[in-house]
Amino acid sequence: MGALDGQHVLVTGGASGIGKACVARYRAEGATVFVADLHPRSSDELELDVSDSAAWAALIESLPPLDVVHLNAGITTPGREPRDTPVAPLSDVTDDAYRAIMGANLDGVFFGARAVLPGMIERGSGHIMVTASMAGLGGMPGDIAYTATKHAVVGFVKSLGATLVQSGDSGVCVSALCPGFVDTPLVPVEAQSFIKEMGMPVIDPARVAEAAMQAIAAHSHGSQWIVWGDIIREHVASPIELS
Ligand SMILES: NC(=O)c1ccc[n+]([C@@H]2O[C@H](COP(=O)([O-])OP(=O)(O)OC[C@H]3O[C@@H](n4cnc5c(N)ncnc54)[C@H](O)[C@@H]3O)[C@@H](O)[C@H]2O)c1
Repeated sequence: MGALDGQHVLVTGGASGIGKACVARYRAEGATVFVADLHPRSSDELELDVSDSAAWAALIESLPPLDVVHLNAGITTPGREPRDTPVAPLSDVTDDAYRAIMGANLDGVFFGARAVLPGMIERGSGHIMVTASMAGLGGMPGDIAYTATKHAVVGFVKSLGATLVQSGDSGVCVSALCPGFVDTPLVPVEAQSFIKEMGMPVIDPARVAEAAMQAIAAHSHGSQWIVWGDIIREHVASPIELS
């Protein structure tokens, strides 16, 4: 018996890195998994640009009702040189690069959640998982536009989680994965060496898949899951007290 037996799962950016590891884990847990990626690597993967809202509508119409939608696709700021440090000064970020990273990392999450939420609410169940980042929780020096997108999607998850609870739609859950550095093509080899020299862990993407499974099991609304070295820890945001 797998934890996702009989469930339908969609993973964006599932052709590489963290998404690919999550696809493998979800399949091992018994799910039927659909992979949607800008660059499909095999014939059973679907082509999708997550920043295209019309493409989202067409994709969801073509799929069976989804139990888990993992909005994972993302990029670092285009044009950034793979230097020996992950620093990308703000002045290096062109308008096109800014639009591209907002499209993949923020629009992709907003449009994806907006496309799947009505069906989940109608069915009274579902889990929207967002791959954010530790860069969504703190102001680390480095890729500034990337950090802005990851803070934005953490805010999105917190607010959507609170809204679902407040409106009585708590069968539907939304949560964010917040990994530190992960061994994927997103982090160039030179950067990985520098990160390790600084004493920080570069983790296996399978650890992020394990965190995803824990988040699905916990069904904790608007939560963020820190994945750092051997640590997988849930952090639930406190609601804002207005009185
Ligand atoms: N690698 C890390 O250290 C790390 C740490 C924290 C969070 N993340 C996040 O994890 C997610 C996955 O990154 P990864 O490290 O596995 O990188 P990756 O480059 O290995 O995989 C990203 C996948 O997303 C796809 N993609 C990019 N733009 C897309 C678009 N517009 N539409 C559809 N698919 C698109 C790519 O084709 C690729 O297959 C990203 O959101 C990233 O920000 C990565």
